[in-house]
Parts: sequence; structure tokens; C-alpha cells
Amino acid sequence: MGVLERELEYHEKLYSGFAQAHFARPAVRALRRHMVERIVKLTGAGASSRVLSLGCGIGDTELLLAPHVAEVVGVDLSPAAVRQARADAERLGIRNARFEQGTGAEGSFDVIIAIFFLHHLPDEELAALPGKVRDLLPPGGVFYSLDPSRNRLSGRVGRAVIPWLMKRYQTPDERELVAEATGGLFAGAGFETRVEMYDFGSSPLAGLLPGWGGGYRLARRLDDGILRVGRLRSLGSNFEIIARKPR
Ligand SMILES: C[S@@+](CC[C@H](N)C(=O)[O-])C[C@H]1O[C@@H](n2cnc3c(N)ncnc32)[C@H](O)[C@@H]1O
Repeated sequence: MGVLERELEYHEKLYSGFAQAHFARPAVRALRRHMVERIVKLTGAGASSRVLSLGCGIGDTELLLAPHVAEVVGVDLSPAAVRQARADAERLGIRNARFEQGTGAEGSFDVIIAIFFLHHLPDEELAALPGKVRDLLPPGGVFYSLDPSRNRLSGRVGRAVIPWLMKRYQTPDERELVAEATGGLFAGAGFETRVEMYDFGSSPLAGLLPGWGGGYRLARRLDDGILRVGRLRSLGSNFEIIARKPR
């Protein structure tokens, strides 16, 4: 079995019920809302933007983003994920979101997002992605990604205290990424690139205690303070790449 087959096998199981129930819990919904606010702010996505989401999963971020933009197209390897995303778009009456099964896209998009996706790509595919993204964006178009940092304190604590849970939430091939090196791939492909730390403890808390929406909001406020401290910021959980194609 190759990486793609293993990813498919894992995610078909994940999206056969567990993910749907877990992602609907209050803390995870609050996290998704925060992510969407952040995506809109950092990419400048607005009412006229066409947005592509790579590895969109069941589309819960994309369906929250849809009211802010002209159109969202989500692509994912997993047919179960795409079925769920389409059903949710229909149920919610969201007409400007489309979901396709696959590993790539064609066309032109103003903004491309990849939420917890890059760290699932094998090294060669990850290295090739900035070039593919560049071809799908017009000058001034923006790429945004969010992925776990190799340096994250939450990962070290998790592996020591709850190793079985960490394993359950991970595919056999995914790995944490080095933030600066991953950003460097986009800079090397000609993008104006920034790397930011998104969170410290709030997203891991949402995963561990998904029913506690108030806990997430409190942890998020704490994170906003913690991330101002350089030493702690470098131990943060998930990093963002904001990469703009030059005009
Ligand atoms: C950790 S999940 C993130 C899903 C979603 N973005 C979210 O935030 O919940 C990674 C997703 O990438 C998809 N995936 C993995 N490899 C892929 C590939 N080469 N092309 C497209 N999708 C892929 C998986 O099916 C899975 O849905």
C-alpha cells in the first residue's frame, strides 16, 4: 500500500461517523469559527473571492467560510468526506460551495487554503505543492495553510501522557512539520511568505474536551497572550503559512 491508499483507508473510517460527531461538538465548532475569522483576516478573502480548499475533509470550515466569499470549491481524497460535505451544504442551503473527490484542482482561484493538509503529503509532493498552487493563483492571490509544528509542546506532552489517543488521531504517514522550512518551500517558489503561530493550547484542548465550548474560548484568549511571548510562541501547536503570489 502507498501513502495515498493508507490515507484513504484511514479517512474513510474517520468519516464514517466519528468525525461528523466529534466536529459537531461546541469546542470544535468554536475553533472552526475562529479559524474562519483568521482566514478572512489574513488572506483578505471577501465577497468577490473564489476560494479553493485542498484536503477539505467534511467541509465544516468551508461551509462556515462560504457566506463571506463568492464561491468555495473543496477537494478531498476521501469519497466519504465529499459525500458528507455535499449533504451538509444541501441541508444548510449553501449554494456557493462545491465539493469534489480528488487530489488536485483546475481553474483559477483568488485564495487557496489547506487546513491540516500539508503534513499529510509525502516530502516530494509537499515540495512540489507551491509550484502547483502558484499556477492556480492570479498575481496577488494568497495561499493559507495551518499545520502542526514539529516544535509543539502539546505534541511532546501528548506523546508522554496520552500516546494511544495521539495515535488514534493520526494517520500512519502524517508528521509534524518544521514551520520555517515549510514556509521556505513557498518562498523558494517565489511567494512573499509569512509564517505565524496560530495557537498554543486552545486547539489541542478542543480536541481533548470537545464538549467544552467555554473552555475553548477561555484557552483561546490565553493563547492570544501566550503567543506574544517569543519563547512560548516557538513552542506553539499549529503554524500558519500566508504566501502571496507577487503582482
Ligand atoms: C487531517 S485531514 C484535514 C481535513 C480538513 N481540512 C479539516 O480541517 O478537518 C486531512 C485531509 O486530507 C485528505 N488528503 C490526504 N491526502 C490527500 C491528497 N493527496 N489529496 C487530497 N486530499 C488528501 C484526507 O482525506 C483528509 O480529509
